[in-house]
Amino acid sequence: MRPTRILVIGSGGREHALAWKLARENSMAEIHIAPGNGGISPEFAHAIPTENFEKLAALAVKLEADLTLVGPDDPLAAGIVDFLNERGLRVFGPSKAAARLEASKSFAKDFMRQHGIPTARGETFSSRPAALAFSRQLGFPCVIKADGLALGKGVVIVHNETEADETLAAILEEGRFGKAGESVVVEEFLEGVECSIHALISAGRYLLLEPAMDHKKIFEDDRGPNTGGMGTVSPPAFFGPALCEEVRQKLLAPLTRGLEAEGLDFRGLLFPGLMLTKRGFRVLEFNVRFGDPETQSLMRRLRSPLRELLDAVIEGRLDETRAEWDPRAACCIVVASRGYPGSYQKGFPIYGLPSPGEESPHGVVVFHAGTARTAEGGFVTSGGRVLNVTAIGQTIKDARSTALAALDKICFEGMYYRKDIGKRAEAPLP
Ligand code: AMP
Ligand code: GLY
Repeated sequence: MRPTRILVIGSGGREHALAWKLARENSMAEIHIAPGNGGISPEFAHAIPTENFEKLAALAVKLEADLTLVGPDDPLAAGIVDFLNERGLRVFGPSKAAARLEASKSFAKDFMRQHGIPTARGETFSSRPAALAFSRQLGFPCVIKADGLALGKGVVIVHNETEADETLAAILEEGRFGKAGESVVVEEFLEGVECSIHALISAGRYLLLEPAMDHKKIFEDDRGPNTGGMGTVSPPAFFGPALCEEVRQKLLAPLTRGLEAEGLDFRGLLFPGLMLTKRGFRVLEFNVRFGDPETQSLMRRLRSPLRELLDAVIEGRLDETRAEWDPRAACCIVVASRGYPGSYQKGFPIYGLPSPGEESPHGVVVFHAGTARTAEGGFVTSGGRVLNVTAIGQTIKDARSTALAALDKICFEGMYYRKDIGKRAEAPLP
């Protein structure tokens, strides 16, 4: 009998963690990744860019892949799932139409308004004067968001009318984000604590996974510019059963009803970013894919086979499905290159690494993100976010301490990480 073969598309720590979980739960499965990163054995890594749908489809056909799992947002927004489905392949991820929940902030905003999902007050504009007038009406600070995908850089918090006008000019008239900025959403500024949920969605059903908290700012105490995410913990202590129930009632139930009402067949993973405000949670945005680095913490805690959850989504069987979790806490610390999220150098040798994905006696697993393998079998840096050091602990603090102790043994030139991942998640909110 031939082994199960799964193809994972993407190259980050998220994809390494998903592949690790799929391999760990089935020792007979072959997990291939395109393009992958230095953490993936060369025999399973295929150097195909995520935008080359033809070659990815040809690879999945050649492998006779039982399942293809798409990691990043860009190929989903560009319709990779439809493309692969049309060629008879079995794929986990939303269609292009459903991926608009992430790819268009105005679409998401309209959807939330229509279906009564709590979100910041906001409107969509393509004209600078109208957008400026609305920002004045909201008061400052307020938030201006490019409508489309802008590599996580399309959200600007403006503090006065001059900043608002300059930002609107740059996005709407000077094309700072290209097509992604042909319209903007202007919305109310929300204060609170940010965290996120992951939920599997299929055929009118949902399965809420465990909550997680990312740390978007580059520096400790949440200072400095936004990044793709500098570390996660799961579960945050403040995210108890009452909040989970509120999320089910006010977000997931109206969302699944709304999808059905609009005839949108969303099959995949929905990852909404939330702001916990004094007046309850608000949805900041929808992502239609696994979070990076949220997934790294979640995969350390997921006890059920991931493959079964993915199959249940594809086959519309979520009502029969449950997910079991390790009750302990997980922490993922992202190790970045000096200069990130701005420009940085690549190619520095990385010392002291355990084997990729191998669990240490202390329960540490290091996932790779921006790494490359050398001809001699060593590793060098090749991206802004380089490694994800994950650990499990009875408490968030224990998990963080274990990850930090493991980090003492790893080094490369310009290595940077935050030592405070999860500190704000250790206690209930005041
Ligand atoms: P988004 O891509 O919409 O999640 O926005 C990126 C980041 O901008 C979020 O993670 C928040 O930190 C911040 N942000 C977005 N919308 C708001 C808002 N309405 N109020 C305050 N901060 C926001
Ligand atoms: N960690 C944030 C994201 O994946 O978008």
